[in-house]
Order: sequence, then C-alpha cells, then structure tokens
Amino acid sequence: MLELDYTNVLEQTVQNHGIPKIAFDKAAESSKHIVEDVQRAHASGKLGFGDLPNDDRAVKAVVDFARSHSQPNLLLLGIGGSALGPAALDAGLNRPNSGKRLIVLDNIDPDFIHDSLDLISPLDTIVDVIAKSGATAETMATFAVVRKWMIDAIGEAKARERFVVTTDPAKGDLLAIARQEHYPTFEIPANVGGRFSVLTPVGTLPAALLGFNVAGLMEGARRGAGQSRKTFVENPALVAAFIQFVLERERGKRILVLFPYSQPLWKFAFWFKQLWGESLGKKINRRGKEVYYGQTPTAALGVTDQHSQLQLFIEGPNDKTFLFWSVKEFRNALPIDHPFSRFESMGYLQHKTMADLFRAEKTATEIALTEAGRSNATVTVDRINEESLGHLFMFSQYFTAYAGEFYDIDAFDQPGVEYGKKLTFAMMGRSGFAEYDKKIRETRDRARAIIR
Ligand code: PA5
Repeated sequence: MLELDYTNVLEQTVQNHGIPKIAFDKAAESSKHIVEDVQRAHASGKLGFGDLPNDDRAVKAVVDFARSHSQPNLLLLGIGGSALGPAALDAGLNRPNSGKRLIVLDNIDPDFIHDSLDLISPLDTIVDVIAKSGATAETMATFAVVRKWMIDAIGEAKARERFVVTTDPAKGDLLAIARQEHYPTFEIPANVGGRFSVLTPVGTLPAALLGFNVAGLMEGARRGAGQSRKTFVENPALVAAFIQFVLERERGKRILVLFPYSQPLWKFAFWFKQLWGESLGKKINRRGKEVYYGQTPTAALGVTDQHSQLQLFIEGPNDKTFLFWSVKEFRNALPIDHPFSRFESMGYLQHKTMADLFRAEKTATEIALTEAGRSNATVTVDRINEESLGHLFMFSQYFTAYAGEFYDIDAFDQPGVEYGKKLTFAMMGRSGFAEYDKKIRETRDRARAIIR
C-alpha cells in the first residue's frame, strides 16, 4: 500500500500558498491525456521503465547469477543513475548482520578510491561495472584502477572471474571490453534511461547479490505501475505531479524538500533528487521555447534535520514545499524503559517507544510547517521491505514522468550532463572532442579573480 496525503497543500489549509480544491477537479479532466500519452509511449517501445517489472527473464538471470556468486563484498563502479538506485536499495534493505556489504565507488576522488579499496580484500570481492553509455570517464577510469587492484592480488585469469558488467545491450566500449575479457554482461534496455534504470539489472543485480528478494521488489513495482495508470482521483503519482507543477509554477515553490522520516529511506531521497532534478531541469520545452524549468530538489532527514534545517524551513523564505516519506510500522518499536521517572525530561518517556517518539516528531514538524503556511504532503508505505521499495521506485518514476508532461518538456534527456561529459573528454585529450578545446582554452586563459 502506498498513499499520498495532500491535505496540507490545499488552499483551505495553507491559504494562498496552497491549491484550491476546484483546481483538482479541473485537473482530473484536463490531465486524462497524460496517463494515455505515457502509456502510448510505453506501448510503442519509446519508454520502458513502467514495463520492467514484467520482465521475468531479466529477474531470473540476475537471481541465477547471484546463486553462483557468494562473495561478501560487492564493489559497484558507476555514477548517477548507475549508482544511486543500488545505494538506495542497500540502505533500505541491508542489515548489519547480513554478511554482505556494498561499496559504491561513485566518486573519483583518488583518496576516497584508495581508502575504499584498502578496506576490503580482493579475495572476497565481486565487481559490478555499470554504465549505460559504456563510456563515462569516471566509471571507465575507476574500472581501470580496480582491475589492476584485482589483478595484482589474484592474477589476470582469476581476476576475470570477478567482474560483471551492466550496460547497453548493443553498443559502447564497456560492452566491447566485457566481450574481450569474457566478463558476464547484463542489459540496460535501450528505452530505459540511466535515472529510470533502478529496476533493470542496474538495481536488481546488486539486489540479488546482496541477498534481497528481487521478486518482491518487482511485485511492489508492478503494484506501483498499476496504481500509476489509474484515473486522476486514484492515482497518487499523477496527483503528486499536478501538485508540484502548480506549487512551482503558480505559488513560487522553487525548492522541493524531500523529507524522509525513515533512516532506511535516506539514500532513496538522494536517488529521487537525481530523478527529479535531471528530468525536469530543462532549458527548452517540447516546442523549442526557452523555459528554464525545474524545481530544485534537496533533502532533509527526519528527525535529524529538525535540529539543523527546520528553523529555516519554518521561518525563512516561503519558497519551498515539503514531501515527507513515512513508514507506518518499524521492524523494532524499541521500548523506552528506565528508572528516572522522577526527572521531568525522562518521566513522560517511560513506557513509550522510540517509534512513538519518531511519529510524534513527524507530526509536530508537519503541524509547525502547516501553521507557518508551508505546503507539505506525505507519501506513506506500510513498512520498509522489497515490495514497498519497488512500489516507491515506480511511484517516483511515474510521478516524475507525469510532472514532465505537465511542464511539456522532455523528462528523459539530459543535455546539460552530456555537455559536461564532452568537456571532460576534451580536457583529458579524448579524440573526437577537439571542437570543445576553444571553450576550455578561453576558460583557462580568463583573468582569474582570486584572493590569497
Ligand atoms: O540519467 C542519466 O542518464 C545520467 O545521469 C546517467 O545515469 C549518468 O550520467 C551515468 O551515465 P552512465 O550510466 O552512462 O555511466
């Protein structure tokens, strides 16, 4: 079960910072084509993310692979959409005593890479190299470093058995290298973009290797896809997209604060940040008009950030809207028992649980924000497990895709990211990118404004 509570974005609750009920009635009519358009794009093969949970063959392949690979460490080389999903799955589902550990090398700070490799033994490690394009500089460079680290420890022949590659099924240097080195490969379908790929082997292979229930993940995702294809009034993804579109365009809420009240969902918020930011931050709409759209996603953790950012959220500029992610049941309620009842600051806690306190703090934050006219909504799942994470991933992807439809932009490209990749290639001397040299020279030669 996934529910969206949007009481606190209504005009009757947060006055002129909210949305009148009548606007929802109108949107129910005017947005009918949105679900149909996204479904049509799926039916024609243009989009693939919503159909991924039905790909039983892909699920079987990762589960079979994981059965024959029992190394305790999974070293993941990838960045952006090729890293944030697996990291969110690991944070949500892994337990300290699982005997499995995920190390994500999604930054190329040389000290970070060196120290991360220092922590683990190559003997206990399997390496999953993930890149949809098969060419991202960060991932290819890290692959080279990790390959040498592995070969130095166990020799070239044995090292080959420790690598697996997840990439485009038909093109890219990473695929060619995998074939040359006889690494097993898994596919990211061509019609699934990087940040929409968590339910491909990008996420499912690490999930299987870490011992998570991939069938459960897909079951939840299937439920999410079904819910996201319903009519407006029964469709949390479509209603959520409409809300953010109106709040951003008409109420000036240029910042979306993702606010999980759940430690296991903290990295999910980082995954969502990329999905929302990269999909909706666009200069040009579908008709070629310059629009400079995009709502800036940022993250805050309940309760931790109550003692950090909340003051700003309640009393600072009313340019933000808040999306809480909450969980009905915890695995452990954790009773608060102690012998200090005569102390006021302890007495009231006696016989309560940490879960009670956590829920009370979420409600307190919600009340404080609402009273201050700060619009907020809550997405709730019953508990954190594979099914609910699958549901959350799919809900979020439809939520983002539908927001793209409201904005009338292409939510599935990322020209800004691609431009940065090309400048990096040029700076590092990759052939075919000389056209960017002039830009780089101009930047280097610019008189610097520096104070020492
Ligand atoms: O969503 C996207 O397409 C990007 O953010 C990519 O995930 C990111 O740039 C990494 O690309 P690749 O998987 O090709 O290494």
